Amino acid sequence: MSNGLSLIPNPASGGDIRDRLIIGLDVPSVEEARSIVSRIGDAGTFYKIGYQLGYAGGLEFARELIGQGKKVFLDLKLHDIGNTVEEGVRSIARMGMTFLTVHAYPQTMRAAVAGKAGSDLKILAVTVLTSYDDSDLIDAGYAPIAAADLVAKRAEQARDIGIDGIVCAATEAQRVRGIVGRNRLIVTPGIRPAGTDAGDQKRVVTPAEGIRLGANHLVVGRPIVKAADPRAVAEAIVSEIAAA
Ligand code: C5P
Repeated sequence: MSNGLSLIPNPASGGDIRDRLIIGLDVPSVEEARSIVSRIGDAGTFYKIGYQLGYAGGLEFARELIGQGKKVFLDLKLHDIGNTVEEGVRSIARMGMTFLTVHAYPQTMRAAVAGKAGSDLKILAVTVLTSYDDSDLIDAGYAPIAAADLVAKRAEQARDIGIDGIVCAATEAQRVRGIVGRNRLIVTPGIRPAGTDAGDQKRVVTPAEGIRLGANHLVVGRPIVKAADPRAVAEAIVSEIAAA
């Protein structure tokens, strides 16, 4: 591996290459999620549950997945006053989740780090939502700052606070790696196997490119969960990751 990626520790994986693929269970019901997980079988070891499934029985379903030995990334992007975040994170850590997202505000990140203490939960910070550009930030009341510079500033803060990793687009991964160093995780969505539909994702890269750009984990949703054969797509992506 010419870029030295093999040297990047990947603490969540325990060495199983399949863990580098996180399958986004963006479906409306637990029944649908259960059916997809069963069709994927042992090709899928790590699942992401976000707003859609999370607020439709997904938290209980997460316990079911964890009971089957799967890892769960709870993508609820928490942000509230410190005490509320800390206690919420403590409850989530007790459930046995592997990853949890929070917005990269310093108070929120500090509270999340306090809340996960003593558990194996890893906190991932979302720096600037990728749907926000420079003008959206002004619209939201920020003093003029380029979104890319705010990503960098928040990645520095996340590193200094002791956050475990950053969620970012693959196109930002190299810059973020330069800030957070090799011991933190970079998790990237916006991944599309060659020849598949990009959907609403604007800057997509293939699984191999995502890994070469420095991602520890790739999040892939629709290309797998909407596929006629989700297991085959998951297996193909894991093979591509292994070869990258
Ligand atoms: O279906 P798709 O592969 O585009 O799903 C990507 C997943 O990653 C979705 O759950 C989406 O919410 C999430 N995500 C993203 N872009 C971000 C952050 C999260 O696509 N910047």
